Amino acid sequence: MILSPSLLSADCGKLAQTLQELEQAGVKWVHWDVMDGHFVPNMTFGQHVIKGLRAASGLFFDVHLMIERPERYLADFRAAGADMLVVHAEATTHLQRTLAEIRRLGMKAGVALNPSTPLCVLDYVLDDVDMALVMSVNPGFGGQKFLPATFRKVAELRAKLNAAGRSDCLVQVDGGVNLENTKALTEAGADVLVSGSAFFGHPPFSERLAAFMAAAGC
Ligand code: DX5
Ligand code: ZN
Repeated sequence: MILSPSLLSADCGKLAQTLQELEQAGVKWVHWDVMDGHFVPNMTFGQHVIKGLRAASGLFFDVHLMIERPERYLADFRAAGADMLVVHAEATTHLQRTLAEIRRLGMKAGVALNPSTPLCVLDYVLDDVDMALVMSVNPGFGGQKFLPATFRKVAELRAKLNAAGRSDCLVQVDGGVNLENTKALTEAGADVLVSGSAFFGHPPFSERLAAFMAAAGC
């Protein structure tokens, strides 16, 4: 299991320090929640902030774009140092083109699905994705309650990917992930868990990372 802490729950006044502390604690990925106030009812940071912090960190930058028409900004996020861009299937009209462009720019490509979005939207882009993100809350805010229908959705997604010969495609879960649901999520087939409040609310980072890994049986 890979844990990707969401900086949405970190102290924005000391992000450079936090990134260094995460790395020292043994974290490998970090999750950036980019929100535009349109696709979701909240705003956060964008490519300029990520670019400014790239030099402070060797972590894998997992960038979750909760923005309308993300295709407008793919090259900007590449220049900012993103390693993976995850776009919402609901936010881009030409999903396959957007995913192909992310890969062409040299990044890993991911698709996020809102809780009510069916898995079939992935049926004809299975060869174009490196990761599928199952939202386990409606996106926009940290600290929300995990939606239990996610367990079945993750299991069905993992089965769909394996049946399509894409057992290498990562499954990520984001929203309300905590020590209590980590085991069931990994057993259902999740590879990458995002955690905001349940991670940053319980320092020190090294111990919290160890607790998540133990919960996942790693
Ligand atoms: C929600 C974001 C999540 C959020 C997770 O819109 O995409 O990444 O930060 O936070 P928690 O773990 O607190 O639900
Ligand atoms: Zn997210």
